[in-house]
Amino acid sequence: MTRVAVVGATGVVGRTMLELLSERSFPADEIVLFASSRSAGTEIDGRVVQVLDDSADLSGFDVALFSAGAGTSRDWAARFVDQGAVVVDNSSAFRRDPSIPLVVSEVNPHALARHRGIIANPNCSTMQLMVALAPIHRAVGIERLIVATYQSVSGTGAKAIDELNGQAHASLNGMEMPAPEVYPEPIAFNVIGAAGNFADGDDHTDEERKMMFETHKILEDESIGVAVTCVRVPVRIGHSEAVNVQTREPLSADGARELLADAPGVALENVPTPLHAEGHDEVFVGRIRRDESHPRALSMWIVSDNLRKGAATNAVQIAELLVADRAGSSVA
Ligand SMILES: NC(=O)c1ccc[n+]([C@@H]2O[C@H](COP(=O)([O-])OP(=O)(O)OC[C@H]3O[C@@H](n4cnc5c(N)ncnc54)[C@H](OP(=O)(O)O)[C@@H]3O)[C@@H](O)[C@H]2O)c1
Repeated sequence: MTRVAVVGATGVVGRTMLELLSERSFPADEIVLFASSRSAGTEIDGRVVQVLDDSADLSGFDVALFSAGAGTSRDWAARFVDQGAVVVDNSSAFRRDPSIPLVVSEVNPHALARHRGIIANPNCSTMQLMVALAPIHRAVGIERLIVATYQSVSGTGAKAIDELNGQAHASLNGMEMPAPEVYPEPIAFNVIGAAGNFADGDDHTDEERKMMFETHKILEDESIGVAVTCVRVPVRIGHSEAVNVQTREPLSADGARELLADAPGVALENVPTPLHAEGHDEVFVGRIRRDESHPRALSMWIVSDNLRKGAATNAVQIAELLVADRAGSSVA
């Protein structure tokens, strides 16, 4: 009997996880949904959402998929683990903890073997970057990355999608745009050149710091230089990235295409777009070309659905590996 808890089930990632569990015929006998007291009485696909509070019954779960923000993960993940569950956490709460594996299912599933109850899912922008770049790193080594992201509003959650829709609707109908609440500036018909928040005294945003740190942890190589600018754009779903990759050994554009054609989770396209990527699990890579300003550098364009591979798909893939391991096959 396999029981799965989905914590944050009413959010954009939580709802996508529920779709994926069903689409992928995840072998769960029971799926229990949890959210905050704001969702008391809510039903999703015939399941009543349970409020995550001290009266909640956390016993008997095999896997708990968390996407309810870092604070909720810090408060509740260990309580699920104490009751016997393995937690796969989408938030940033545990990613920097050296004792907690940070796993992209196609890239470093071997790291699952050392989990002690909690596994961290990477940030959505880092996730798609790793799926596309790990095959190149393995083949020729990566010396330096220069990345500019074009991140969709769904990466900030359901409220941010409402904010984009509300501002766009007002603007298109000749009304005054509602004041921004989620972002510091209006996001409709605009571009915000700093996605994330600035910690005191830091000139990089937390989104940028996540990509720098998580790249090193996932590829197990702290020597890779990572220069990144995270940008928020008025796209509902799907993050895009303009990436310049400086390799240690030479790699031609054709060589990169050959590597990526066979890479798990990657699909090659001429010019992928977020609208096309939406609803798909692949990381789409296009515009692979030689950077003529450097003898060992390539430029490319990487796009993926941040709610799927960037969050929910990877969490469910990890859960599948855990369940398969429990059934007797190896985790990695
Ligand atoms: N969106 C992405 O692309 C993405 C990608 C990777 C990781 N993540 C991470 O995934 C998490 C969720 O993101 P999201 O985009 O799905 O946000 P969201 O749409 O705002 O949903 C947040 C979810 O968390 C629940 N929640 C909030 N406080 C809670 C509490 N105290 N107890 C129980 N449940 C609580 C909410 O329940 P109510 O509806 O009851 O408020 C809702 O289900 C975040 O940590 C985020 O950083 C998101």
